[in-house]
This record gives sequence, structure tokens and C-alpha cells, in this order.
Amino acid sequence: MTKRAASIAVGEKNASLEMRSGTMGPDVVDVTALYKDTGVFTYDPGFSSTASCESKITYIDGDEGVLLHRGYPIDQLAEQGDFLETCYLLLYGELPSAREKSDFIYRVTRHTMVHEQMSRFYSGFRRDAHPMAVMVGSVGALSAFYHDSTDIADPHQRMVASIRMVAKTPTLAAMAYKYHVGQPFVYPRNDLSYAENFLHMCFAVPCEPYKINPVLARAMDRIFILHADHEQNASTSTVRLAGSSGANPFACVAAGIACLWGPAHGGANEAALNMLTEIGTKDRIPEYIARAKDKNDPFRLMGFGHRVYKNYDPRAKIMQQTCHEVLDELGIKDDPLLEVAMELEQIALHDPYFVEKKLYPNVDFYSGITLKALGFPTTMFTVLFAVARTVGWIAQWKEMIEDPHQRIGRPRQLYTGATLRDYKPVAARG
Ligand code: SDX
Repeated sequence: MTKRAASIAVGEKNASLEMRSGTMGPDVVDVTALYKDTGVFTYDPGFSSTASCESKITYIDGDEGVLLHRGYPIDQLAEQGDFLETCYLLLYGELPSAREKSDFIYRVTRHTMVHEQMSRFYSGFRRDAHPMAVMVGSVGALSAFYHDSTDIADPHQRMVASIRMVAKTPTLAAMAYKYHVGQPFVYPRNDLSYAENFLHMCFAVPCEPYKINPVLARAMDRIFILHADHEQNASTSTVRLAGSSGANPFACVAAGIACLWGPAHGGANEAALNMLTEIGTKDRIPEYIARAKDKNDPFRLMGFGHRVYKNYDPRAKIMQQTCHEVLDELGIKDDPLLEVAMELEQIALHDPYFVEKKLYPNVDFYSGITLKALGFPTTMFTVLFAVARTVGWIAQWKEMIEDPHQRIGRPRQLYTGATLRDYKPVAARG
């Protein structure tokens, strides 16, 4: 990493800072000394111009629509690899050898069961609870069951916790779905792949054998790959900040799930499908495009826009292909939601408002149609995002914990509240 001197003059004071270059992407100005040298803070509430950390895991070029995991393009990983291989890559930094891959699959597969007490934990929720609420609770509760992998100073325990998180979130997610629909929990099976096992735990019932559809299982696996990690997004930053205090990884991932739930972030896939359903038919699209442009209307086109991508989200292209594959396999012709989505996309891609603001479809735009076709209710869409993103959160958490320069994250503020004033007894307040 190359370093160069930089300086900033603030009034009469000068701060001697340092410019640092990574292997790709924008350089950074290290402002660590700014406050000490000048007495001022930087101000960047949405972190649009702020690098919160150094990382080697994922690189995004928003202008070019590039997404690399440890240097490998997302389209190559999605088309040629599989999700557990991507998990290994994110966690260890290299693609596994054949032996490393089979060993990793063995270890993850044999951690997919959860403590039997967890099933009673679920019975405390209302049946109509949103599955994301159940996931926040159940993933956070893992730290109550797996004390032997919460010592974050122990590399072995960190890796055991990482494997447990990757292995158990699908089981907890499937249990949240089964509880939601009032069906019995289905135990994981060691003879199935990660995606096959997840579909089996969600859709198998005791009354008849569940037949795995390889095309749908492949699509599910690819959807997991597309959502695995995405640099320092809001939920990953939440996990890093929670982890910087030394909190255990299960609690940190629960915090990430809570953040992901928001409609501006992972909740957008549920919101996008609800939006397409509300639009209903192509002839109503202009009304919603007008609303999206209206400054007085809070409505936004869900599944469009991105803080980083000012070009087409590379995941959205693969998601669209996967959507067509799933609909074709299921014989779903002329899906009205897909017709509305494709028409909306074409209109938005040529509308000056969206072109000028560089608003393109993101990963959430087509995922909802695909997940609905796979049989999931909209309330499960963000849960699936959380299952996939768990490996990204954990890989980023591990990278932070293993950084020798890591300190607790503690931002400052621009204070604009009341200045010093004395307390007034209630009788004197008028
Ligand atoms: C994810 O960060 C990540 O990497 C996230 C993610 C990941 O993998 O972790 O990629 C996953 O969260 C994808 C994004 C899913 N969210 C949505 O689809 C919700 C709809 N999109 C927006 O709410 C919005 O685009 C954000 C939140 C995604 C990005 O917001 P920014 O970067 O803060 O942009 P902004 O809100 O400042 O908008 C810039 C302008 C504004 O207009 P002006 O005030 O400048 O006139 O663009 C407009 C916005 O009004 N705008 C939209 C819009 N998104 C932005 N107008 C209509 N519809 C939209 N979707």
C-alpha cells in the first residue's frame, strides 16, 4: 500500500495527514490526526465520502458496475461456483482445493442442527410475527446456547462460531417459516447440498416425500451467492461496529439482521414485490413513475437506486436471468408481476429523471419475483437475504477482530442543541 503526505489548512491551523492507496479504488486521506491537529471533525452523516476500514474481502466499482469477492467477479462465481465455495473464499481469502472444499462442506453440514431447546424458544413468538423479528431474536439467542464459541480472542472459537453461523442460519430461517405457516419443523439432512437442504427444510412436509428440483436448487444457491457480501453496506457496518466493542459474533449478526430489515436496505426485496403488486398492470406504471419523481411524495421505486452503483448492479443482471430460469422451469408464462417489472425497468432506464440520477435496478428488483415463484411469502424475502449475507457479515467481523489496529468504533457529532443553561424548578417555568 503506497502512502503520500497530505495536508489540510483549517483556519490558522494545519493538519499533516497521509494519503493512502489501496490495490484498487479511490485513495483515502487518513484523517486520524485531524481533530488532534486542528480541533475540527469531519462531517459525513451518510458516510458517502468515508472509508470506515481497510478490507481485502469485496471490491465494488459503482461507476463500472463491478463486484469482486477476493478479486473474483460475481458473475463468474455465480455461474461457475457454488455458495459454500463462495463462503470459503470470503472466510479464508482463496478458492478451496478439492480437499479443502469437501472438508469445509463436511464441517458446515454437520453444524446445521440447532439445540433442541431452540424449538421451544420459537413457541414464545406469535404465529403471525414477521419472520425477520423471529430471526433477530433466534440468531441473537444462539449466544445463549453456544458459549463455547463466544471467546473472540481465540482463533479456533472464531472459526467455530463462523461455521456455526453459516450452518445454522438456514435452519433457523426455515424454522421461522414453518412456525409462521403452522407446519412442523423439518430437520436438516446431511445428504443434501446447502441450497437443497434449505428448500427441503422449508417445503418438505411429513405427509409425503419432498422432491428436490435441481433447477430450483441451483437458482436458490445462486441467489445466496449474489447476496453473500457487499463491502461496507449498512448492515455490515452495523456488525463491524457491534463487534468493535467485543460483543460475541451471534449478537453482532443479530444486529446486522435488524439493520438489514429496513426497506432502504435488505427489506427492499419485500417492498419491491409489494410495489409491483400494488402497481398491478403496465398501464398504471406512469402514475407510479410520476410519484417517484414528486418531491412531496415519499414514494420511491423500490429495487431502484443504490448508494454505490451508479450503473447497473451486476447482481441484478444475474438475478433477472435466474428469474427467467425459475419461471420457465415452473412453466409460469406471462407472469403479470414480471411483465410490470420489465416494463417499469425499460421506462425507468429511459426516463431523464432516473438517467440523470443514475438510478438503475439493484439486486432487490428481480429477487422478489423469483422468490415468490420458488414458493416463499414476501415476509420471508429479507430472511433469505439475511441467510446469504451471514457469511459476509461474519467474514467482515473476523477481518475486523483480526486487525491488530482495531479499536472500538466511536464517531463524534456536530452539536446544534441548546447551549449551557441552568435548571428551573417547575414552579418557575410558567
Ligand atoms: C441494498 O449498500 C449496499 O451495498 C446495499 C445492498 C447490499 O448488498 O448490501 O446493495 C443491498 O440495500 C440495495 C438497495 C435496496 N434499496 C432500495 O431498492 C430502496 C429504494 N432505493 C432508495 O431508497 C435509494 O436509492 C438507496 C437507499 C438505495 C440509496 O440512497 P442514497 O444513496 O442515499 O441516495 P439518495 O436517497 O440521496 O437519492 C439520491 C436522489 C434523491 O433525489 P434528490 O433528493 O437528489 O432530488 O435519487 C432519488 C432521491 O430522491 N432516488 C430515488 C430512488 N432512489 C434515490 N427516486 C426514486 N426512486 C428511488 N428508488
